[in-house]
Amino acid sequence: MAGCAGVILAAGKGTRMRSSLPKVLHRVAGRPLIHYPLAALQAAGASPLVAVLGHGAEEVRKSLDSGVKVALQTRQLGTGHALASARKALKNFSGTVVVAGGDGPLLTARSIKALLTQHRSRRNAATVMTAQLTDPTGYGRILRDRQGSLVGILEHKEASPRQLAIREVNSGVYCFEAPLIWEVLSTLDSGNSKGEYYLTDALAALRYQGQRCGTWTCPDADEILGVNNRRELAQAEKLVRRRINGRLMDSGVTMVDPDTVYVEDSVKIGQDTVIQPFSFLSGNTKVGRGCKVGPLARLTDSVLEDGCQVVQSVVTGSRIGRNATIGPWSHLRPGTVVGSDAHLGNFCEFKKTTLGRGVRAAHLSYLGDTTIGPDANIGAGTITANYDGKNKFATVIGAGAFTGSGTVLVAPVKMGKNSRTGAGAIVLAGKDVPDGAVAVGIPARILKK
Ligand code: UD1
Ligand code: CA
Repeated sequence: MAGCAGVILAAGKGTRMRSSLPKVLHRVAGRPLIHYPLAALQAAGASPLVAVLGHGAEEVRKSLDSGVKVALQTRQLGTGHALASARKALKNFSGTVVVAGGDGPLLTARSIKALLTQHRSRRNAATVMTAQLTDPTGYGRILRDRQGSLVGILEHKEASPRQLAIREVNSGVYCFEAPLIWEVLSTLDSGNSKGEYYLTDALAALRYQGQRCGTWTCPDADEILGVNNRRELAQAEKLVRRRINGRLMDSGVTMVDPDTVYVEDSVKIGQDTVIQPFSFLSGNTKVGRGCKVGPLARLTDSVLEDGCQVVQSVVTGSRIGRNATIGPWSHLRPGTVVGSDAHLGNFCEFKKTTLGRGVRAAHLSYLGDTTIGPDANIGAGTITANYDGKNKFATVIGAGAFTGSGTVLVAPVKMGKNSRTGAGAIVLAGKDVPDGAVAVGIPARILKK
């Protein structure tokens, strides 16, 4: 849409959150609240984008994209005053200004576009996005005359019992025309129950000047949810998550019970992957096609190639090759790379460890800073002692090697190709096991052929 600027009002403290964190930095499905309306405005084509910041401005600014202009509202004197604070940032702009609150994570670009289209086709000076709510508590009510034309907006606190029964509410999303709006904002007064300059009063003020004002009603009432407290934060989380899961299911992902699957928007999942209940996928995670994830899987910043299976396990900062299977109850820590067709079973913890194709570690292992060649077999209870209290050391296990149950590899140490250890062997640092050799005992010694 040509010639429309976007302003996000986000300077408020968010008193009702009872938090030391600015309200708009509270997270919904992994992203700060303020990111949602900004992304919607951007997707609707608004440019430039201005965020009005005040409470915790420095902290909030750090979370924003560098393309977003920041306007400071040093004292939080109300939403009308907040929009007026954006005037300088838009001083050469003339045209439509779309305004939204920083606390509405469900607003879509589609609705912003519909609001804009109506605003322009009616040649309005202001258009408010409204919605019909079954429970309008806390929202500003839309006042209309007998003909149904917009008269103004009344805040919940100022409304009489009769007016409180109105279920059409103000979403906090508006189109205004600049520079006209700047003049009107300068005429607002703060003679209301909060002693604030209400942006909502700009509508009656515009009408008083003979300007045309209208409304556009959002068909999906959920979209206008504003987060003012932690109950609403939880409600928003649920709705955003439902949206993400819906999109993934539409793209060919099976979710056995989407109500118990927690996926962040940043996560990509391939077709025919099945996500079982109580699974959490977050950050920069990419799951291939035909994978089985869960139940009880936690994947963070990790890649699963096609056909993998992760059951009851935690995978962080790791990469899992095609058709590998993990779990139940394993923990892959950052820097772990699992080769294709590998199998890691119960209670295996790996950190900064590379496993070749087809490696098997079926039970009870800790391997850190280790490189394992293809087709090696890690016996139950194999441990790398990679840390001496000060430094970490590396272990190398060659292709086709076999560690006996309860082997301890004291790093730095190397097991050659096709070498073996006996049960309970303790291979000391520097006492490498040559290719094809067998090491047994404590400390381990090489058996003569
Ligand atoms: C506001 C509207 C209400 C509407 C509701 C929709 C007003 C007076 N009321 O109420 O009609 O139904 O949103 O969610 O506008 N802000 C500032 N500076 C300030 C005050 C607020 O930047 O001085 C920001 C806040 O950070 C927030 C947004 O403006 O992101 C809305 O403020 P909030 O206090 O949440 O308004 P509501 O009481 O929800
Ligand atoms: Ca609000």
